[in-house]
Amino acid sequence: MTDPAVRLDPAVSLAGVTFRGPVFTASGCAAAGRELAPYLDLGTLGGVVTKSVMRAPRAGRPTPRMAETASGMLNSIGLQGPGIEAFLAGDLPWLAERGIAAVVSIAGHSAQEYGELARRLRGAPGLAMLEVNISCPNVESRGQVFACSAAGAADVMAAVRREIDVPVFAKLSPDVTDIVDIARSCVAAGADGLSVINTLLGVAIDTRTLRPVLSAVTGGLSGPAIKPVALRCVWQVHAALPTVPILGMGGIRSGLDALEFLLAGASAVSVGTAIFADPGAPARVQCELLTALAARGFGAVAEAVGVAHGLTAPREVVAYGDEL
Ligand code: SIN
Repeated sequence: MTDPAVRLDPAVSLAGVTFRGPVFTASGCAAAGRELAPYLDLGTLGGVVTKSVMRAPRAGRPTPRMAETASGMLNSIGLQGPGIEAFLAGDLPWLAERGIAAVVSIAGHSAQEYGELARRLRGAPGLAMLEVNISCPNVESRGQVFACSAAGAADVMAAVRREIDVPVFAKLSPDVTDIVDIARSCVAAGADGLSVINTLLGVAIDTRTLRPVLSAVTGGLSGPAIKPVALRCVWQVHAALPTVPILGMGGIRSGLDALEFLLAGASAVSVGTAIFADPGAPARVQCELLTALAARGFGAVAEAVGVAHGLTAPREVVAYGDEL
């Protein structure tokens, strides 16, 4: 029997750029893609979203900076990375030479620094899109979590927009009173789309040492524990801004998880924490998602986006089989 997914066009369009598939690697979980290459064909994915790159090389926070929690993972990495010059010399060409779409995540301490990074990336070969990380919870002060303030988020997005023509997505934090308010502000300042969501701020305590597990005390929670929160955020943002493309993420481990994000309003998804247990997860999730879409009669990925919002009454339950 022919695999029904074979008949489905896997391509997605985000802010006018066409990507090969609906699944991306999530920023921070696969560096710039190289480490994953032995486990999957990165060229079949939508693209690689890189670890956030900053202006200068950075060692990040002291260890311990990762902790396992129930259905989740806490990290307080602190934006470790090689800095923009080494990134441009090594990581980005590696992706470009292999024809892998690069979505470069950038992070800075000020709107001006974000603008400088965007300027430095202008015209870089292989650059398909920017993801502007305004929501890292592991920065020096909460004031630097620009996604927690509509004005701060807008300043950063405007500074980036001025410097670059490729699509620019703002990565939002769930740790806000009204995520739609922040989303609107980013779009008004020039964001073409939104990445929803970054991690939630959390703490784990070691009951043997009677101290926090992470040296930084707080960290960002990711993994399946946050999936309902992420879906709620995608739902709210899509309901308010239905024409703005969303890259959805948060606890996706399977094609059906990814399908939930599409139905809630995401145009594509990123897979992150699942990579730690299964480095091939992004390709597997994409394959499962395409199969599940085809089994439900969708002819293209875009047809599923936001479909759950159209339901005014419960629909008939259809049995698709456990794996679909
Ligand atoms: C980190 O490097 O601390 C994580 C980045 C992020 O969550 O945005």
